[in-house]
Amino acid sequence: MRAAAERIVSCASASIAARGRFSWVLSGGNTPQRLYMLLGTADYVSRIDWARVHFFWGDERCVPPDHPDSNYRMARESLFDVVKPPAENVHRMHGERDPAQAADAYAAVLREFFGLPGGAPPHFDLILLGMGDDGHTASLFPGSAALLEEERWVVANWVEKFGTWRLTFTLPVLNAARRVAFLVAGADKAGRLAQVFSREPGGELLPAQRVRPTSGDAEWFVDTPAGANLGHAS
Ligand code: 6PG
Repeated sequence: MRAAAERIVSCASASIAARGRFSWVLSGGNTPQRLYMLLGTADYVSRIDWARVHFFWGDERCVPPDHPDSNYRMARESLFDVVKPPAENVHRMHGERDPAQAADAYAAVLREFFGLPGGAPPHFDLILLGMGDDGHTASLFPGSAALLEEERWVVANWVEKFGTWRLTFTLPVLNAARRVAFLVAGADKAGRLAQVFSREPGGELLPAQRVRPTSGDAEWFVDTPAGANLGHAS
C-alpha cells in the first residue's frame, strides 16, 4: 500500500508542476480505502498539495452519496474529511440520478473540465483501478454492454450479477490516461490475477486485461496474498 501511496505522491507532484493541477480518478470498493486513509496520515498528508487535486471517479454505484455503497461516501470518509479539498475540486458522479442522465451529465463535466468538445477522450493524470475476482475493473464487468462502447466516455452499465445499474468510464477513457495504477489485494484475487498476467493465447480477454493505456503500461500494486500465484512473472 505504501508503494501505491508513493506513486500517488510522485504523480501529483509531477502533474501539478507540469499543469498546475492533478486530475486523479479514484476507484471504489474496499481495497483503496486503506490507501486513501494512509494518504491522510502524517507520513503523507503534507506531501500533496490537496488544493490542486481534482478528484473524479471511474465508476459509481447508482445510489445516493450518503449510501453505504457509495464510492463517493467511502472517499469522503477515508480521505476528504481529513485533507478537506475545495468542494469545487470534487467531481462526484451523481449516482442518485437516472443512470443514463447521470452518465451523460458526467461526460459533460469532463468536457468542461478538460475544455474538450467530445470525440477523443481526456488524458487524466492518474486513473486508479481495482479488480474484482471476476476480472472486472471500474464497473466494466465481463460480458456487459459497456465493454463494447467505443465512443462515449461514461455510460450506465447494467450489471447482471448484482441486478443493478452502475455508472462507469469506458475503455477509451481508461486507455487515454497518462498513467493507470491497479491496486489489488487479498487471496481471493490470486487466481484471477494469475489469469490476467498469463500469456495464454486466445479466449475472451478479461476487462482488466483490456486496460492498456496508449501512454504506456498500466502499473500493478499487488499485495502478497493476491500475488501468490504469479510465480516468477517475467
Ligand atoms: C467498485 C470498484 C470496483 C472495484 C472492484 C474490487 O465500484 O466496486 O470500482 O471496480 O475496484 O470491485 O473491489 P474490492 O477492492 O472491494 O475487492
